[in-house]
Formats: sequence, C-alpha cells, structure tokens
Amino acid sequence: MERYTIPVIGIIGLLVVCTHPLWHYIAVIFSLGVIVYTCLIFASDGDVLLMMYEKFGKKADVFKDRVVWITGASSGIGECLSVALAKQGAKLILSSRREKELERVKVRCLEEGSLKSADVLVVVMDANKFDTHNSCVNQALQHFSKIDILINNSGVSQRSEVQNATLETDQFILNTNLIGCISLTKCILPHMMEQKTGHIINISSVAGKVGNPCSATYSASKFGMNGYFDSFRGEVYPYNIFVTNVCPGPVSTKIVENAVQDVLGKEPIKNYDGYAERSLTLIQSGERCAELTLVAAANRLCEIWIARPPFLILIYMAQYMPTCHRFLTQKLGYRKVLAFRKIQQA
Ligand SMILES: NC(=O)c1ccc[n+]([C@@H]2O[C@H](COP(=O)([O-])OP(=O)(O)OC[C@H]3O[C@@H](n4cnc5c(N)ncnc54)[C@H](OP(=O)(O)O)[C@@H]3O)[C@@H](O)[C@H]2O)c1
Repeated sequence: MERYTIPVIGIIGLLVVCTHPLWHYIAVIFSLGVIVYTCLIFASDGDVLLMMYEKFGKKADVFKDRVVWITGASSGIGECLSVALAKQGAKLILSSRREKELERVKVRCLEEGSLKSADVLVVVMDANKFDTHNSCVNQALQHFSKIDILINNSGVSQRSEVQNATLETDQFILNTNLIGCISLTKCILPHMMEQKTGHIINISSVAGKVGNPCSATYSASKFGMNGYFDSFRGEVYPYNIFVTNVCPGPVSTKIVENAVQDVLGKEPIKNYDGYAERSLTLIQSGERCAELTLVAAANRLCEIWIARPPFLILIYMAQYMPTCHRFLTQKLGYRKVLAFRKIQQA
C-alpha cells in the first residue's frame, strides 16, 4: 500500500494546484501563443524565426565589398543569389560547369549591380572533379586575395525510385550534392582559418529534413549536408567561421529539367516552368529564396526553412511530431509525389 502513497499525494496535489485560478490564466496565455504561432506559420514563406529576422534583424547591406563564392551560379537559385549580392556591392566568384552561362550571369550582375568587370570572376568548376578544386581556390585567391563567404549551392535533383536507380546514379548525386561541397569547403577552410573569419552557407533542402519517396539519394545527400555542416559548425566557431544551412521547399528553377533519372544520361524530363509560374502561390520564386537566404546570412542564422504552406507545415510536423509525419508519409507520400510529378511533367 505504501508504494501508492507518494503518487496519490502527487496527483491530489496536482489537482489542487491546477484548480488555482492562476493556472487558468497561464493556460489561456499558452493557448493564445499557440494560436498566434500557428497563424504566423500559415501566413509565412519561411520559418517563424527567419520571418522575425527579416523584419527586425540586420539588413542585407552588410555584403558590400565582401568576396562571395557562389557555386551553381549559372542558373536558378545561384543566379538569383549572384544578382542580389551584386546589387549589394559584394565581389563575386561565379562557378559551375557551363562557362557561357556563367558569362551571361556575370553580364547580368554588372548591369544590375554597381560592380566593375574585375569585381566578378568566373571560375569554371565541376563539383565532381575533386582534384581540380584546389587550383580553382588558388585562382580565386590570386584574383581577390581573400574569400569571405562560400555558398555551396550547386546540385542536382532526382526522379527515380530506389529499385530502378543504378548505383552509378546514386554515387553521382552524392558526389555532386555532398562530397563536392565538402571537397571545396576543405580547400577554402585553411584560408578562412588563417584570416580568422568566414561564413559557409549551404543550400540544402527540405528534403534534408524530411524523407520523400522517389528522391531517396537526393534526400540522403541533403540530410548528409545538414549533418556534416552541423558537426562542422562547432569545430570552426573558435575561428570566427559561421555555418548556415538553408532548407528551401520547391523553388521555380530548372531543377526538375536537370534532375537525374534512374540511369545517368537519360533524356531530361520536361520543363515545368509553365506549371511553376501558375503555382507561385505554392512554389517559391528564385528571387525570394535568394532574398531570405541573404537575411539568414546577414544575421548568421544556423538553419532556416524557406517554404510556403502546406510544405512549411509538413516541415514543422516532421520536426515536432515525427511519428505522425512518418505515418502520413508512409500512407500517402508515394501517391502524392506521383500525382505532383505527373502535373510537373504535363
Ligand atoms: N529548385 C528547388 O525546388 C530546390 C529546392 C530545394 C533545394 N534546392 C537546391 O538548390 C540548389 C540549386 O538548384 P536550382 O533549383 O537553382 O537548380 P538549377 O537551376 O538546376 O541549378 C543547378 C546549378 O547547379 C550547377 N551544377 C549542377 N551540377 C554541377 C556539377 N557537377 N558541378 C558544378 N555545378 C553543377 C548547375 O550549373 P552547370 O550545369 O553550369 O554546372 C546550376 O548552376 C541545389 O543544390 C538544389 O538541390 C533546389
């Protein structure tokens, strides 16, 4: 009988305390807080903390004269980031595989920003050719003698089920999206450690927070990116080097057109820009994604989510109610993804 005494006294005590009117006020304030927070999530296109920093934090004008290296600068989010940074007066290193497209982006940066030609350097670089990364870094350092910020943005998406994707395809995606970023970061790191300042910004994805059917390797690469750079953050903090992981939901770029399928080299699937334009209430524009990324960079945020509801709700759900989210993904995810992709390819 004695072993029940303490729990019984505890429960009676709790009931007495809970009937105190003070608890009713606390409960009302808590419920109001939850309602306001939920409304904010529904009205936002990024996580609530990011929205607060956008309103009250440092503005993106801190980039003037900073040297920023953007990988995957030849299209999509990378192009939008390059133009936005050029407008802020940052000096730019633009890299990817297609030189002609990089030169086009350079011209845009010069036209829309207030930079001189020497302020924008084009460095042709393949994320998969790790042994060339060091010489690319030397080329950039010779030109600008410093690199303040690296934006690891280059990447490819995936449209294939696990059983159909070849191992070669899996390796290609992991090399491009993860190992390539690690390799370039390692080449730049000694320089940032020596100058005792730096910022590494990684364009990850909501697929790095939430697993999605038909993109297992892509998800693995982005979960890997988040995990690697979360660990790395603590190691480089004493050197005044900061790390920001950016997790966008769907953004209107060429990512679907450029997506890798089950076998490497297969015809690209159809462009979905027409669909994306009609669906900008759901899908973000590249410009908005770049704008919010620069808010996070200016305020040195560790991780941000850029997405509109319902995608934003799903990330919140995955973060705070993982069991519920996994149950839903298991039951509905595959069918939903197939339906969404059917529309994309129409
Ligand atoms: N769009 C979305 O919905 C979305 C959502 C979440 C995250 N993201 C991430 O955002 C990043 C940018 O994608 P995006 O949407 O802007 O797509 P995108 O328009 O297809 O741009 C991809 C960029 O990556 C470069 N790239 C691809 N493979 C490369 C390689 N082997 N070496 C060097 N550069 C390479 C491409 O340039 P070259 O072809 O000239 O090499 C291009 O500049 C990616 O990491 C992607 O995972 C996109």
